[in-house]
Amino acid sequence: MKKVRFGIIGCGLMGKEFASAAARWCHFTEDIAKPEIVGVCDFSEAAMDWFSKNFDTVVFRTNDYKELLKRDDIDAIYCALPHNLHGQVYSDIIGAGKHLLGEKPFGIDQAANKQIMEALKNHPEVVVRCASEFPYYPACQQLIKWIKEGKFGRIIEVRTGFCHSSDMDLTKPINWKRMVEINGEYGCMGDLGIHTQHVPFRMGWMPKRVYANLSNIAKERVDKNGNMVPCETWDNAVLSCQVEDENGNEFPMFMETKRMKPGATDEWYIRVEGLDCSAKFSTDDPNGFYYTESWGKEQGWCRINVGYHTMIPTITGGIFEFGFTDAILQMWGAFIQEIEGKTPEFGCFTPEESALSHKLLTAALQSYKEKRVVEIE
Ligand SMILES: NC(=O)c1ccc[n+]([C@@H]2O[C@H](COP(=O)([O-])OP(=O)(O)OC[C@H]3O[C@@H](n4cnc5c(N)ncnc54)[C@H](O)[C@@H]3O)[C@@H](O)[C@H]2O)c1
Repeated sequence: MKKVRFGIIGCGLMGKEFASAAARWCHFTEDIAKPEIVGVCDFSEAAMDWFSKNFDTVVFRTNDYKELLKRDDIDAIYCALPHNLHGQVYSDIIGAGKHLLGEKPFGIDQAANKQIMEALKNHPEVVVRCASEFPYYPACQQLIKWIKEGKFGRIIEVRTGFCHSSDMDLTKPINWKRMVEINGEYGCMGDLGIHTQHVPFRMGWMPKRVYANLSNIAKERVDKNGNMVPCETWDNAVLSCQVEDENGNEFPMFMETKRMKPGATDEWYIRVEGLDCSAKFSTDDPNGFYYTESWGKEQGWCRINVGYHTMIPTITGGIFEFGFTDAILQMWGAFIQEIEGKTPEFGCFTPEESALSHKLLTAALQSYKEKRVVEIE
């Protein structure tokens, strides 16, 4: 089996998720080159120890990502670092001629995103994508198929969201994701926004204008020394957007990203309402695909269990359930297929889409600041 030799920069939460997905590549029944983790980079020795302990393919460890980029035995990088590092590190990875799966928001702000896009112009040979795993739930794939088939008829309204509630705990200590200088001015929108944009953008639903409602609810949090310090990032964001479909009809699209949504653990959802029918999916009910049936003038919601019918076929029986780690595996399968020059049915979030994301989020910040609707160029 062919291999893609990987280096991981940032061995935290998401670095480990990738490694775990790579370890169960046998799950796929389709021939896809296997990721092999050759090198790891983190400031924390303990974070890298986990990789050394679990992967005997790891032959190189470093605290300096540039050392990893010099190696000829590494073809591709997964980079999961805090947002303030994306602009420089992603550009260096691309400059070194390595394929890259980077993490959102793909630049702490629009300037950093432009820096990455500029680096890419000089290296069109490398495959660069941004992580976004939720669209790979089979029920969401079903919904995407229906959009492509035009099953909804004229779109009335679209809602997407990604919501958490752990910040409802006001005693939760501050970390880098709650600091403007590291997480960025976008706050929760930068952290969660791309997850809500992947499906709409891919379907061609780019907002023409936006009105943003942003909330900073927890203005202070305790730091690791027990002192209360300012917590200036946006906790919750509701974007009210206007979109035009391919026939020139406008419809509203609401995108919410929240760290303080009561009851939400890691809830990602999409809901599409159309004149002919409507459908919705939420990770709160990962196996459920909901759609409306019309009885004359009335519509009723139906739910079917979609089971384990994945975009990339696997060994798992179709009657079983699908979960977060399966979505991560599907996303990685899609990324490696793209490196191999194949076109997955639903590909990973592209750099061009990340540039759209930054346009939208920059306009959202302006909208909230000036308390007005902002046109998106
Ligand atoms: N796709 C998803 O579902 C998802 C979920 C969570 C986070 N993320 C994204 O992943 C990225 C990382 O988030 P995380 O939750 O894994 O963070 P984390 O804090 O758990 O891990 C980041 C790691 O980077 C290391 N690090 C920091 N600066 C470094 C440097 N200069 N050189 C080497 N190592 C360095 C830290 O020691 C830490 O181990 C962010 O962009 C975040 O938005 C994505």
